[in-house]
Amino acid sequence: MKGFLIFIFYIGGLVFLVNCQGFQEPSTRLLKPAPLPIRLKMKKTSFWIDDAQQALRGKIERSLNEGKAKNVILFLGDGLSIETIAAGRILKGQLEDRLGERSKLTFENFPAVGLSKTYCVDKQVADSACTATAYLGGVKGNYRTIGVNGNVSLNDCGSAMNPVNQVESIASWAQKANKSTGLVTNTAVTHASPAGVYSHLANREFESDYKVKLEGYNPAKCVDAAMQLVHHDVGKKLNVVLGGGTKRFLPNGTLDFYGNAGERLDGRNLISEWRQSKTGLAKSIFNVQQLIATDYNNTDYLMGLFAPEAMNFKTEADVVKEPSLEQMTEAAIKILRKNQNGFFLFVEGGHIDTAHHENMAQKALIETLEFSKAIQKALDMTNSEETLIVVTADHSHTMTFSGYSSIGNNILGLNTEKSDVDNLPYTTLSYANGPSYYKHFNWTGERLDLKNVNVLDKEFQYVSTFPSKTETHGGEDVAVYANGPWSHLFTGSLEQNIIPHMMAYASCIGDGLTMCQNPKARSSAAVVQISVILIISSLILTLFKNQ
Ligand SMILES: *[C@@H]1O[C@H](CO)[C@@H](O)[C@H](O)[C@H]1NC(C)=O
Ligand SMILES: *[C@@H]1O[C@H](CO)[C@@H](O)[C@H](O)[C@H]1NC(C)=O
Ligand SMILES: *[C@@H]1O[C@H](CO)[C@@H](O)[C@H](O)[C@H]1NC(C)=O
Ligand SMILES: *[C@@H]1O[C@H](CO)[C@@H](O)[C@H](O)[C@H]1NC(C)=O
Ligand SMILES: *[C@@H]1O[C@H](CO)[C@@H](O)[C@H](O)[C@H]1NC(C)=O
Ligand SMILES: [Zn+2]
Repeated sequence: MKGFLIFIFYIGGLVFLVNCQGFQEPSTRLLKPAPLPIRLKMKKTSFWIDDAQQALRGKIERSLNEGKAKNVILFLGDGLSIETIAAGRILKGQLEDRLGERSKLTFENFPAVGLSKTYCVDKQVADSACTATAYLGGVKGNYRTIGVNGNVSLNDCGSAMNPVNQVESIASWAQKANKSTGLVTNTAVTHASPAGVYSHLANREFESDYKVKLEGYNPAKCVDAAMQLVHHDVGKKLNVVLGGGTKRFLPNGTLDFYGNAGERLDGRNLISEWRQSKTGLAKSIFNVQQLIATDYNNTDYLMGLFAPEAMNFKTEADVVKEPSLEQMTEAAIKILRKNQNGFFLFVEGGHIDTAHHENMAQKALIETLEFSKAIQKALDMTNSEETLIVVTADHSHTMTFSGYSSIGNNILGLNTEKSDVDNLPYTTLSYANGPSYYKHFNWTGERLDLKNVNVLDKEFQYVSTFPSKTETHGGEDVAVYANGPWSHLFTGSLEQNIIPHMMAYASCIGDGLTMCQNPKARSSAAVVQISVILIISSLILTLFKNQ
């Protein structure tokens, strides 16, 4: 009896200890080894069979949704490679004191997954500009160009401004169907990925007239992204624009909300022009308090610019000023969902990419978790019967996940193995290239001994095998996940530019319009016809019988 009581106290103490652990950043906390119960269970045959049977039953019982997608949300993880997803899910689980390897990011529960081939017209390895044209416009173009086909070479503004070469995005198709549209990003709203929603640019650098001039071109001939967002066809109809980038919209000499000078050379204040050009209720905001205080029911147009250029990484953000990707997604949906015809929303998690470019894998993974939270918010706020959610990446990165670490080992830390050549430790995550090279290798080619380095510091730059000023993108396929109407189309090995065609088909807009009216719509019409005939004939029969 005494032994039993001690046992109960012991278990109670353990439970108390586990529950008292608040959230700490991975750099400051000591990740515990994988919890014992799951590791014991994994030794049993029955665990794996039950696990597999349960997953199989879920697949068998799932019915296909061939309804019309009233709403479409595209979540773009910039640079969200498959390695980033695998490492990200492990970090998520480890931060929750669970076995990371069995953890899942929100979108890993989606029923459909495919692979997207990301090459562009002129490059094996793509950038965020030409890929935006593919996954938003349905056409592949040249490296660094946006919203234009492969007939437009870099910096050829004449061709980019020629409508025959322009590629319309799915936002334009949705607008033609009288749907509401919006974009959310944590980079500048004029940056390459969001610019794919509304612009046609011969060079992604053309974010403002100042930047056009800086590149050596004439702003009168190369209309910049900020101007296109405020005054051109698709941009001016966007109901929601949330992200960073005040500098691109304000004249030099005008200070923004944060005290930073605008950069425009044409003297125009595009933020006030944006507000004045709207016929509905339009509001421009600059911090998280204003975002939360927004009366969504009485706002038709919302522009929130929360930083002079890109917003901060999650790890550096001033949470009193800058909203999270999740908060911006929530605000966007609250405004867009008021439209009876539905909406199209584009959400970019832009800093997965920027962190990778610096070899800062920890920050890239934390941004991945932020991205996953925003997707969970969208799932919670919408109905999967009528809302198609697609999650994908524009391109990969060079981060690898390697070595033979023991199960449960801290994904951010040193591998449990050492190099069998120089006998030095190495991290489980590493890069093919990037700026970290000189921090890890001597001129004599010797490797830095990582046992004396805090690899769990969020600024730590993981080793790269050759030097480059910024780490480059990767060329292998990225994943596409889908949930909701017609999600089962998003499987197989896909060209990246089929993605908007499938979203449009599901939603019956744009190019999907002609196809989606048959045969499915026709077959359901046939069902109605047959039922009507059956009801009428049984009525007639009853009448005759009664006579
Ligand atoms: C390429 O662009 C030019 C204009 O810049 C246009 O005249 C020409 O027709 C285009 N060619 C094709 C094949 O679309
Ligand atoms: C969109 O709305 C306009 C104005 O109300 C209307 O004329 C048009 O037919 C609508 N288009 C579609 C596709 O519903
Ligand atoms: C803004 O104007 C000031 C001088 O008034 C100049 O020094 C600065 O370089 C300008 N900034 C940009 C981005 O053009
Ligand atoms: C906004 O409108 C919805 C639907 O009409 C209503 O349920 C909600 O309470 C309103 N919210 C506010 C803050 O007025
Ligand atoms: C460079 O090599 C020396 C020995 O020659 C070693 O002591 C030092 O730690 C090395 N530094 C790095 C960055 O590898
Ligand atoms: Zn990039």
